[in-house]
Amino acid sequence: MNKLHKKGVIILDFGSQYTQLIARRVREQNVYSEVLPTDTPLDQIKNRDPSAIILSGGPSSVFAEEAPSFDKKIFDIGIPILGICYGLQLLAHHYDGLVESNGIGEYGFAEIEIDDNKKLFQNVSKTSQVWMSHMDRVTKIPNGWHVLARSSNGVIAAMSNQDQSIVATQFHPEVSHTEEGKIFLNNFLFKIANCSPYWTAKNFIEEQIKLIRNQVKEDKVIVGVSGGVDSTVVAALLHKAIGDQSTAILIDHGLLRLNEAKTCVKALKEGLGVNIHCYDESETFLAKLENVTDPEKKRKIIGNQFIYSFDRISNEFGDIKYLSQGTLYPDIIESGVSKGKSAHVIKSHHNVGGLPDDMKFQLIEPLKELFKDEVREIGRELGLHNSLINRHPFPGPGLAVRIIGEITQDRIDILQKADQVYIDILHEDGLYDDIWQAFAVLIPVSTVGVMGDQRTYENLLGIRAVTSTDGMTADWFRMPPETLTKISNSIVNNINGVNRVVYDITSKPPGTIEWE
Ligand code: XMP
Repeated sequence: MNKLHKKGVIILDFGSQYTQLIARRVREQNVYSEVLPTDTPLDQIKNRDPSAIILSGGPSSVFAEEAPSFDKKIFDIGIPILGICYGLQLLAHHYDGLVESNGIGEYGFAEIEIDDNKKLFQNVSKTSQVWMSHMDRVTKIPNGWHVLARSSNGVIAAMSNQDQSIVATQFHPEVSHTEEGKIFLNNFLFKIANCSPYWTAKNFIEEQIKLIRNQVKEDKVIVGVSGGVDSTVVAALLHKAIGDQSTAILIDHGLLRLNEAKTCVKALKEGLGVNIHCYDESETFLAKLENVTDPEKKRKIIGNQFIYSFDRISNEFGDIKYLSQGTLYPDIIESGVSKGKSAHVIKSHHNVGGLPDDMKFQLIEPLKELFKDEVREIGRELGLHNSLINRHPFPGPGLAVRIIGEITQDRIDILQKADQVYIDILHEDGLYDDIWQAFAVLIPVSTVGVMGDQRTYENLLGIRAVTSTDGMTADWFRMPPETLTKISNSIVNNINGVNRVVYDITSKPPGTIEWE
């Protein structure tokens, strides 16, 4: 392994669902961070020359036999350590404090009172709201250590060794519900660990270009482009790294938004000089999807067909060794293929879930540790047009997961047109950029209506708009009633086949953003 970027942080992943979020919060402060498995050999960690180590949370108990193994000499390498949640308990356990469970955990918001406002808690309020998620707790801190904060339930919320070179919090500073989490982390990174704010979009791009060139050498890469911001950024990045050794391919599965394929090709070709080709494969995809109604089956079929289509098409370009795609971190964690063992499969996102075992390509996924807003930052730095960067995310399986039940060409046509009317109105009313994602869903239910003097019996259309920062959680957008009225009138009056519109007011969780 190479040296870590100047003055960066290594995060050891004890299996928390928030581990990657810690990495991201650190990167938001422009400090490079990297997540490593807990069993990474100590030598490798030392060789990376980190400025600090963060021990993540995790689902285990320090007493459990299956607790993740790690080299305990990590505590002696003499660089600052921050333990979070399980990380705090590990530190207490290692330094002969006491960790206990009384069978009652603390989950959700808690208030903490700060006892010591030097270093870690400098510039924070005396009482602060935090997010807790733990069963075990520390009941006795190690000898010579200090309690830095307590929760209103009397739980030790933060502690440190004598000089605060090792600090730990029972709560999660990385979660947005922890009001001053950003300040805590900033204090740790810059007041305790002496990290440097070297990590920027520009440096990320330079780094990836080097990695891609080293990996690819003289070989050729195809980039799967979908019209969304992630794959567009990947295509631009590959183009910058290896020029015409990369070919972007847009497979039109027939389930894109209205005119999406054309717009995307135009933007990449004319805007950036990317070598891009579009293939209309809709007949093949739709034939395979005939009579399929199960959401996971739809996703797998589309994922597999993508690769087979790529395989066939790529032969036209000679011998291609690599396939590059815009997989992001949330795609990986939600498909249950992250390094952590605790992630459940919520949905198979096609760009990771449906890859066939006999795939001939090696994958290049330069964005796989990033979140959407980070990707937008990279896109901006690469010079992509704002209208491309600010586009709402669009799922790989496209309208297939927005046509509930059976997919037919008729239903695709109805949804494409209705969706277009909806999105146009959001632009007109200046709301598009306030929304993370907005789309229409065709529901396999017919309802009765009346138009003129005629009875109608047509499709029900759902419209959804959510706010979010990373797609992992989302809230429904409080759409102004005037806009809702305009949308509903325009759709029912102009789109044949829809006579009723409903607005989805479900957050994620418990809902997901897409309906399937
Ligand atoms: P869910 O519906 O899981 O979606 O809450 C979270 C985010 O991921 C997008 N999404 C996908 N993106 N391939 C993708 O590239 C997929 O199969 C896929 N499924 C969902 C979704 O649009 C939202 O932004």
